[in-house]
Amino acid sequence: MDHFHYRNQKLYCEEIPVSDLAKEYGTPIFIYSYATLVHHLNQLQTAFAEAKPLICYSVKTNGNIHICRVMREHGSGFDVTSGGEMYRALAAGASGESIVYAGVGKTDEEIHFALQNDVFMFNVESEEELHTIGAIAQSLGKVASIALRVNPDLPPKTHVKTDTSVKGVKFGLDIETVLDVARGVVGHPGIAIKGIHLHLGSPILSAEPYRLGCEKAIPIIQSLREQGHPITHLNMGGGFGIHYKKQEALPASAFAEFILPTVKKLNCQLILEPGRFIVGNAGILVSSVLFTKESGGKNYIIQDAAMNDLIRPTLYDSFHRIWTVDLPAGTNLPPQDYEVQNSDTFLQNVVGPVCESGDFLAKDRFLPKVSRGTLLATFSAGAYGMSMSSNYNARRRAAEILVKGDKAILIRRRETYADLIAAEECCNLDGFGE
Ligand code: LLP
Repeated sequence: MDHFHYRNQKLYCEEIPVSDLAKEYGTPIFIYSYATLVHHLNQLQTAFAEAKPLICYSVKTNGNIHICRVMREHGSGFDVTSGGEMYRALAAGASGESIVYAGVGKTDEEIHFALQNDVFMFNVESEEELHTIGAIAQSLGKVASIALRVNPDLPPKTHVKTDTSVKGVKFGLDIETVLDVARGVVGHPGIAIKGIHLHLGSPILSAEPYRLGCEKAIPIIQSLREQGHPITHLNMGGGFGIHYKKQEALPASAFAEFILPTVKKLNCQLILEPGRFIVGNAGILVSSVLFTKESGGKNYIIQDAAMNDLIRPTLYDSFHRIWTVDLPAGTNLPPQDYEVQNSDTFLQNVVGPVCESGDFLAKDRFLPKVSRGTLLATFSAGAYGMSMSSNYNARRRAAEILVKGDKAILIRRRETYADLIAAEECCNLDGFGE
């Protein structure tokens, strides 16, 4: 469910025609729907209500501080994976006590920063990291709350680049070693092991990995308690899939079905770290067609968004629905199933201006005829769009708009050329002499 819909041949975000926003703020631009964001957060809150979960919105998904602020105002905490993400969450008004901190490579500086801001819990991924956090906490006169991140060795069947719980990836502690690692810190003055963390991968379109993950969590928590660690939390991470190509995602309740009984049985507080489920379908990327051409028997739509704006198709061959923002007479609504040819469409490739053959948003897609200036909407671009964007080819990052009802607010201005070189203007090369 989202709040992007066609009305009178025009795409609307809530109550505003998308073309009006493109006209006012230019393209490429990310447009987010407030109601869709809140709807998905509410879905999770409702499905898991029985466990009174600590829902920690995953900042890496879309870290715009205003999106984070909306999350906070609706009762979410935050999952961060760097000092920068923690800074974003704090800037959005979060308290440290609502932040869980994951990541395989936390620097000493980041650990200090998190502890000084009273982070709620670290998700720890190696024995060395555990002892480093313990030592830093002790030096600050603090006790660090820890969840041990377990690699449960499951087949979640996501993309090879986003599977995090198969054997041999860099994430977490091997399930066979967790108990030994925990035994080594019983009684440590700077460490309180309070939970385990299982982020299985992303995006996951089946509840089965969560069922298996829960099954594996139970004996680990029981053994940790026997060792003397007073385990109070089970963190099941994020990963809940969304609709990209068609209506294929599960409702939050399908995941809750397995997770809730586990939490109850273990008498733990549940932590979740959803990102994509909340913001993925709450955002679109709007671009303008620059040129069309035919090359080597293929039809190309060259438009002004590129892999630097939305890298998912390039990086993972991800599928994003694309359609025209306005529907001139004779143009159909976007299809329910994008594999099938709609009337009045033909096979086209949607590419950007970046100097790489891998710069595309869609390949071999049945799309309507477009021309210079036609606006295109790339759907489900709210998650891992702006947050993975770059300045490659010295392209300025896009603007972002948040729409609530019939009001729109620019929540990130388009970058300027001056922004592109600002951090390099810290010096000149005079120090090298002649
Ligand atoms: N928690 C941890 C520890 C994570 O590593 C992630 C995502 C999440 C939570 C949030 O997962 P979500 O609920 O959004 O699925 N760039 C890729 C996805 C990489 C996911 C990285 N970790 C993409 O565009 O599909």
